[in-house]
Amino acid sequence: MGIAPSATLNYSTLFMDTVLILDFGSQYTKLIAKAVRELGVYAEIVPWDISAEEIRRLAPRGLILSGGPASVYAPDAPRLDRRIYELKIPILGICYGMQLIAHDLGGQVLRGKKEYGPSTLQILQTDTLFEGLNPTEEVWMSHGDEIRTLPKDFVCLAKTPNVAHAAMKSRDGLVYGIQFHPEVAHTPKGPEILKNFLVKVCKISPRWSPADHVHQLIEQLQRELADARHVLIGVSGGVDSSTAAVLVHRAIGERLIPIFIDTGLLRLGEAERTKTVFEKLGLRLRVIDASSRFFAALRGVTDPEEKRKRIGAEFIRVFYEEAQKLSREVGGIDVLVQGTIYSDVIESAGSRGADRIKSHHNVGGLPKDVPFRIIEPLRNFFKDEVRQIGLRLGIPEEIIWEQPFPGPGLAVRILGEVTSERVQLLQRVDAIVREEIQRAGLARAVWQYFAVLLPIRSVAVLGDGRAYGYVVAVRAVDSRDGMTADWFHLPYELLERISSRITNEVPGVTRVVYDITSKPPATIEWE
Ligand code: XMP
Repeated sequence: MGIAPSATLNYSTLFMDTVLILDFGSQYTKLIAKAVRELGVYAEIVPWDISAEEIRRLAPRGLILSGGPASVYAPDAPRLDRRIYELKIPILGICYGMQLIAHDLGGQVLRGKKEYGPSTLQILQTDTLFEGLNPTEEVWMSHGDEIRTLPKDFVCLAKTPNVAHAAMKSRDGLVYGIQFHPEVAHTPKGPEILKNFLVKVCKISPRWSPADHVHQLIEQLQRELADARHVLIGVSGGVDSSTAAVLVHRAIGERLIPIFIDTGLLRLGEAERTKTVFEKLGLRLRVIDASSRFFAALRGVTDPEEKRKRIGAEFIRVFYEEAQKLSREVGGIDVLVQGTIYSDVIESAGSRGADRIKSHHNVGGLPKDVPFRIIEPLRNFFKDEVRQIGLRLGIPEEIIWEQPFPGPGLAVRILGEVTSERVQLLQRVDAIVREEIQRAGLARAVWQYFAVLLPIRSVAVLGDGRAYGYVVAVRAVDSRDGMTADWFHLPYELLERISSRITNEVPGVTRVVYDITSKPPATIEWE
């Protein structure tokens, strides 16, 4: 959401056996954290310039130095606080991380042949890091520089056809370096290597699971919110804000006030559905119908970015007005809870970030200078981990596995002007698409599926006469993270059912088309 929190909870102290990942700017750093956590060890990403004192305070059981785009010999290259080597914490340097260790400890790094892609690792010496591996293994390389000579107390563990020192180890067994990337799927034995480092070198017993920490998270929130009069949260019905709301409700009960702003741009029945689900979980959700304000703000607007801007601005206005009203009503609100998750934090820290083709400012994204203390109880968790926490809290599967839904809602699925009549039309069409895909048992298999209302009319035969009806497009895609996507090959019979139901049940719609474009070049949404 791109919000810098004014105050945050640091949960890293809660978990035993933490591993810190020092981020030198690699596009894969997040994958390292994910891979380590999937192995049952809590990992957190920290900036590369973290001091030795701070590391001592956090007391991690191991350090991983990520890759990065710089060259260690460049004058402005990011470097490690050298006192970190004296802490005697096991270190694994990956790619740039390995080169940095070599450079810092007296080895020589030179510009090599650029290498990007698969390579074959040949293990030269058996070692705990490579236990369970074959003498040769496929690995993924992405580097320009390479290590010419190792520091004096290091031994070479492996090579590839292009790289003489593809893995190294200090003689005391505490510091390792690997030139390849164990965190990417193209290194099939990557998880084994990471596991060997965590278990055999760092001596961690992998038993971390996000859901096991629900109790601790609740206790932490109780302490953190002890003197808050009331705490506000805006929920969207999605997994992040719902999980945050239920977690905080478990901690402070009725002092939490969850609100849901109905922009009028939601899917059919969404506000009621969310209210019912929250009620079952014991939370009284206040639904604020602000649809007329959003329609007024969107009158005459056809440009997609302008739509997003206006919806975002209106959302903030409505949210603050409601917050003020509520604060007067209940006698003071001091804290705002946000459902920010780890990837939001990493992305908004923004060392790199994919190109922003769309502004993507989330509805619900609030400005920095809010008159509340902000807490983000899920800011250290990846999406899948939030799902596990949500499930443990009893949140129903329909919310846990809900497909992504854009903040500006149906406004970016109605090409051209957004009117209440068009929204109602699209809601009915979209409900049919969703119902049929769910009924076919494909809800979890298809990453995102929805309908789009096009700004054109097409000829139709109605009775004896010709008519012009609306054209709608069906979009269904397969994706991992929304950055790229393949169009989903829905079965023809299903498409046929969808098409015939739409044209029979939604008056005014006379043509249904199926979007068969992948991303890139097409984005998932049409606007
Ligand atoms: P695109 O259309 O860029 O979408 O391929 C990638 C993912 O982002 C979602 N999306 C949005 N989410 N605000 C959001 O919160 C937006 O303005 C927005 N636009 C696209 C989209 O649904 C898909 O999951």
